Amino acid sequence: MGLLDGKVAVVTGAGGGLGKAESLLFASEGAKVVVNDLGGKTDGTGASASPADIVVAEIKRMGGEAVANYDSVATWEGGERIIKTAIDTFCRIDILVNNAGIARNRMIFNMTEEEWDIVQRVHLYGHFYCTRHACAYFRQQRSGRIINTASQTGLGNMGQANLGLTNYSAAKEGVVGFTRTVALDMAKYGVTCNCIRPMAATRMTVSPDLQAALEKASQKDSGDTATGLEAEIKRMSPAHIASLVVYLATDAAANINGKSFLVGGGEIGLYSEPEIASSIFKDGIWTVQELVDIMPRSVTKGLPASV
Ligand SMILES: NC(=O)c1ccc[n+]([C@@H]2O[C@H](COP(=O)([O-])OP(=O)(O)OC[C@H]3O[C@@H](n4cnc5c(N)ncnc54)[C@H](O)[C@@H]3O)[C@@H](O)[C@H]2O)c1
Repeated sequence: MGLLDGKVAVVTGAGGGLGKAESLLFASEGAKVVVNDLGGKTDGTGASASPADIVVAEIKRMGGEAVANYDSVATWEGGERIIKTAIDTFCRIDILVNNAGIARNRMIFNMTEEEWDIVQRVHLYGHFYCTRHACAYFRQQRSGRIINTASQTGLGNMGQANLGLTNYSAAKEGVVGFTRTVALDMAKYGVTCNCIRPMAATRMTVSPDLQAALEKASQKDSGDTATGLEAEIKRMSPAHIASLVVYLATDAAANINGKSFLVGGGEIGLYSEPEIASSIFKDGIWTVQELVDIMPRSVTKGLPASV
């Protein structure tokens, strides 16, 4: 008996990394899985059916049920077909995991419109398209689970300066706001919507050279030659992310809505929501000179004198 017997889960970007780990765990908990993946490179170029096909084959080998879908989440029609694959194959949809993602890093002063645009399309629009079409069914059946994939990057607290992540962090913080509001709108239909800010070793976070070296090492009898880096990559397995995502889809998590979680390497944390730390009020319009005088003594008190 699995915790999700009879449920149908759609996982986008499920051909590798986090999405693959999530799909395998959904299947092992008894869910039928739509394994969506465009099968491109980390920068969003290219396409291939094989990543999704490999995961479907693995689920079937485990005795589970799964179907592949190769559409891009980045179009309205793609999102619609991904959700329809669940309906056409398994006659329902209970869980949507918006996970597909790419990266096009470039410092803000060099970033092209295309680099900005494609990242918004895959992450932010991709979340919208799939959620939009899934929610039409969730509203009718008065139940559903949505788990979105944000990032710590948008919080700017990872010391990731100079990596050219402005397009990515903008899209991912958009996902957090989207999550809160979908949660509010859909609660009355028995639907929850939460998001994760994961940390895991995948092709997106581990360089191809390092991945190739690790793969080579794992083919040999590496015995006690495991490097610290290799151990760290194992410690940051995508399997850690899958556990929380699948938990959020169970009945046990029915009370959790609109929240964001840190998850990775065995740690799970609930983020607090932003609150006003200090404020001032005037029944009228502040003059700029008044703000020059009062802000350092009130609202911005305690900030360093320079950035
Ligand atoms: N790995 C981390 O530490 C980390 C941290 C923060 C956020 N994330 C997010 O987690 C998600 C999964 O990333 P990952 O680390 O597993 O990377 P990954 O590259 O291994 O997986 C992403 C998958 O999405 C697929 N994909 C890309 N564009 C698509 C599209 N338009 N339509 C359908 N599928 C598409 C890719 O083919 C790939 O299989 C992403 O949204 C990523 O931004 C990851």
